Amino acid sequence: MPITAIVLAAGEGTRMKSRHPKVMHKVLDSPLVGWAVRSAQEAGADRVVVVVGNGADEVRSYLSAFDGVETVEQTQRLGTGHACRVALEGAGVTEGTVVVLSGDSPLLRAQTVRDLAQRVDSGKESGCVLTMTPPDVTGYGRVVVDEAGRVQAIIEHKDCTPEQREALRECNSGVYAFDARELNAHIGQITNNNVQGEYYLTDMIQIMREAGLAVSSVHCDDYAELLGVNSRIQLAQATKIMQRRINEAHMAAGVTMIDPDQVWIGPDVTIGQDTVIWPGCYLLGATTVGTECTIGPDSRLTNATVGNNVLADETIIVDSTVDDDVHCGPRAYLRGGAHFCRGSKAGTHVEIKGSTVGEGSKVPHLSYIGDATLGKGVNIGGGSITCNYDGKHKSHTEIGDNVFVGSDTMMVAPVTIGDGALVGASSCITQDVPAGALALERSRQFVKEGWATEYFKKLKEED
Ligand code: UD1
Ligand code: CA
Repeated sequence: MPITAIVLAAGEGTRMKSRHPKVMHKVLDSPLVGWAVRSAQEAGADRVVVVVGNGADEVRSYLSAFDGVETVEQTQRLGTGHACRVALEGAGVTEGTVVVLSGDSPLLRAQTVRDLAQRVDSGKESGCVLTMTPPDVTGYGRVVVDEAGRVQAIIEHKDCTPEQREALRECNSGVYAFDARELNAHIGQITNNNVQGEYYLTDMIQIMREAGLAVSSVHCDDYAELLGVNSRIQLAQATKIMQRRINEAHMAAGVTMIDPDQVWIGPDVTIGQDTVIWPGCYLLGATTVGTECTIGPDSRLTNATVGNNVLADETIIVDSTVDDDVHCGPRAYLRGGAHFCRGSKAGTHVEIKGSTVGEGSKVPHLSYIGDATLGKGVNIGGGSITCNYDGKHKSHTEIGDNVFVGSDTMMVAPVTIGDGALVGASSCITQDVPAGALALERSRQFVKEGWATEYFKKLKEED
């Protein structure tokens, strides 16, 4: 039977004190709602329906990048039961298993969701609630069980008697699995006769039980998995837990981290065996790193494709590719589709944008190379720059194989330097240089023997 995940994400999130919806705040590079969607998809959900409301446009536009994710808008926040009903009706969820998740709980593991869904998917039960026992139970709905330990009902903190608040320690995590037919059949019975005047989804448990349906609970022993994010402090706490979880998975798979507390890796990053990551590194987006690399210290890789045996020392690589055996840094900045081919080098204080640097070519010191193609075995002298922008247009620079460009050369694009050419230092190259040619653009040097000695002597005599 199909599994549909309903992610409740319409809430206000006032405690974030933000102009953005709560679920768009990020834990390691992914908005909170992205984590919920990811767990649902990893758990095998065939459909994911996200209930949006507060900041709906922002959430919808982010989710449009995901395959198989639908959104339904809840225009009035009348409670979790209402939100769920809006999803069922809006997306037309009529059969199979429904799993309900909160958009603000990024730490929930896919395996936990899968196990919960299985209880209903197997046909054994019509409803199952995931419970937890946090150290501080304040604010959570409490799970009421009978003598046999079977779940009877959930009572919201605000609706509990003082005795219930004290006695009931098992709490509702806000994650559930339901049989879609039974959920549809009974969701209309939820009322808003409670302290908050809201339609509580939690009431489904008692309603289903009273209808003679089998309902149960599953206890999640790792309470941290269910940590909800309601404030920036909790956002930082969730980030810390997720950072540890991700880093430990990479270390278990053969990646060395000198200090995992100082390494931040996003959920979609892959890293090969025997790569060493030094402190101060961020690996984000769709970054892949090969084997035997050294990353950092202090490097940031965003949507970077990095081969094997690469050194990225104090280097920023954004939307760019670095092949095997490339050395970068310290302090290199590769961006906008830069491509360093095998064995090439980006040295110190260099910026490379939208350029291909051929095999074994070097840009070692203080250069800007933008919109250029460099062949194999090229050497770019220190301080040399491609002048690719005239204030309006970007133009291309073409540099052939085995070209030697002297230091402090300006290459005014569009311009081509042929294979094996040599450009003398300090030249301003505005015309194409043929293959094998020498190009030199500088005024002749002026020398007067003994002039300086006389000059300084005179200055001293004046004192
Ligand atoms: C809910 C549970 C509580 C549980 C707790 C766990 C209810 C009534 N209570 O309480 O038993 O212990 O989660 O964290 O369900 N939302 C909507 N539309 C609405 C209302 C809420 O989309 O009209 C979304 C919120 O954005 C949030 C989720 O549903 O993502 C939970 O709502 P929230 O108001 O935070 O419920 P809690 O008070 O935390
Ligand atoms: Ca909450």
